[in-house]
Amino acid sequence: MSDESPNAKQKRVDSGITRRTFLGMSLGTGATLFAGGSATILGADSSTATSPVTNPTWQLGGDLPVNRLGFGAMRITGEGIWGWPPDRENALKVLRRAVELGVNLIDTADAYGPETSELLIAEALHPYPKGLVIATKGGLTRPGPGSWVPNGRPEHLKQAVDGSLKRLRLDRIDLYQLHTVDRKVPMEASLGALKEMQDVGKIRHVGLSNVDPEEIERARKVLPIVSVQNQYNIENRKSENVLVYCEKKSLGFMPWFPIGGGRGLKPDNALERAAKARGASVVQVALAWLLERSPVMLPIPGTSSIAHLEENVAAAAIKLNPAEWKAIDALAS
Ligand SMILES: NC(=O)c1ccc[n+]([C@@H]2O[C@H](COP(=O)([O-])OP(=O)(O)OC[C@H]3O[C@@H](n4cnc5c(N)ncnc54)[C@H](OP(=O)(O)O)[C@@H]3O)[C@@H](O)[C@H]2O)c1
Repeated sequence: MSDESPNAKQKRVDSGITRRTFLGMSLGTGATLFAGGSATILGADSSTATSPVTNPTWQLGGDLPVNRLGFGAMRITGEGIWGWPPDRENALKVLRRAVELGVNLIDTADAYGPETSELLIAEALHPYPKGLVIATKGGLTRPGPGSWVPNGRPEHLKQAVDGSLKRLRLDRIDLYQLHTVDRKVPMEASLGALKEMQDVGKIRHVGLSNVDPEEIERARKVLPIVSVQNQYNIENRKSENVLVYCEKKSLGFMPWFPIGGGRGLKPDNALERAAKARGASVVQVALAWLLERSPVMLPIPGTSSIAHLEENVAAAAIKLNPAEWKAIDALAS
C-alpha cells in the first residue's frame, strides 16, 4: 500500500501547475552547449556516453525507441493550463523546434487546455515525422481553470480515447496513460476500458500516472503496462519506490515536475557548483542528474519558451562526474 492517503495523493496530481512564480535559480545559457552547430542534439549519433546510466535512448514498450529526454506539452496552453496560449504561433514554434532538436517523445493529455495541447501538437506537427511518439492521457477532467477532477469511468475513458485520436489526427495512440486512479471507480474497470481500446487497435501501449507500486501490480494483472509517470525531481523523491519498481520490471519512468515546475528547485551549492564548472545552467544540471539516476528515466520538462527548450534539450549531452552526481543526490529533502 502507498503510505499516502488517497486524498493526499490526489492533491499531488498536477499540483502547482497554476503557479507562474519566477524560477528562483541562477541560469546560464545553453547556447555554449550546441557545439558544432548541429540542429539535432539528441539521437543515436549523440555524443552522450553509453554507460548503463547514460543510455541515450529507451525502447518504450520494447518496440518504440525514444530519446530519453522528452518534452512535456502542458505548458504550451493558457494560464492555469486553460485555453489557448497567449502566443499561439510561439507554441507551434516550440513544438516544431523540439522535434528539430531530436525530441521524439512528447507528453500531453486531453486535460491540458483541455484539448488545446493535443490540438496544437497536431497543428504543429501533423503529418508526424517517422518515429515521433505522442504520449497522451485521460481520466482527469477539467471543470475550470486550475481544477482537476478524476473520472475513471469506463465509458468516459473510451470517449476520451476517441477524442484524443481525433484531435491528434491519429489512427492509434502509441502511449495512452491513465492520468490518475479515480478512487470512486475500481481501477480494474478503468483499465479494462483501455484494454478494450487496445484490443481494437486504438492504443498501442498503456501507461499509468500518479500510482504506487501496489497499483502498478494490480494494473499489470489487467493488461501490460509499459510506463509510469509520477512526480519526481532532485528535491521530491517520494516516488523513489516507484522508480525502483520500474527499473526492476523495465518500465519507462517519466518524472513530471522534473525541474521543479514553476516553483523551481532551490539554488544549492552542489547544483550551482556543477553548473558553474561546465558553463551550464542549474536546470541543465538537474536534468542531467535525472538522466544519470536511472536508465529507465524519461524526463519530460515542459516549457513555453524556445530558449528554455534548447537549454533543456542540451542537458542530455552533459555527463556529471561521480562526485558531482553524489553531491547533488544528497540534496534530496
Ligand atoms: N501526470 C501528471 O499528473 C502530470 C502533472 C504535471 C505535469 N505533467 C507532465 O510533465 C511535464 C513537465 O512538468 P511541469 O511542466 O509541470 O514541470 P517542469 O518541467 O519541472 O517545469 C516547467 C516550468 O519550468 C519552467 N522552465 C522550463 N525550462 C526552464 C529553463 N530551462 N529555465 C527556467 N525555467 C524553465 C517553465 O516555464 P517557461 O514556460 O517560462 O519555460 C515552467 O514554468 C508537463 O509538461 C506534463 O506533460 C504530468
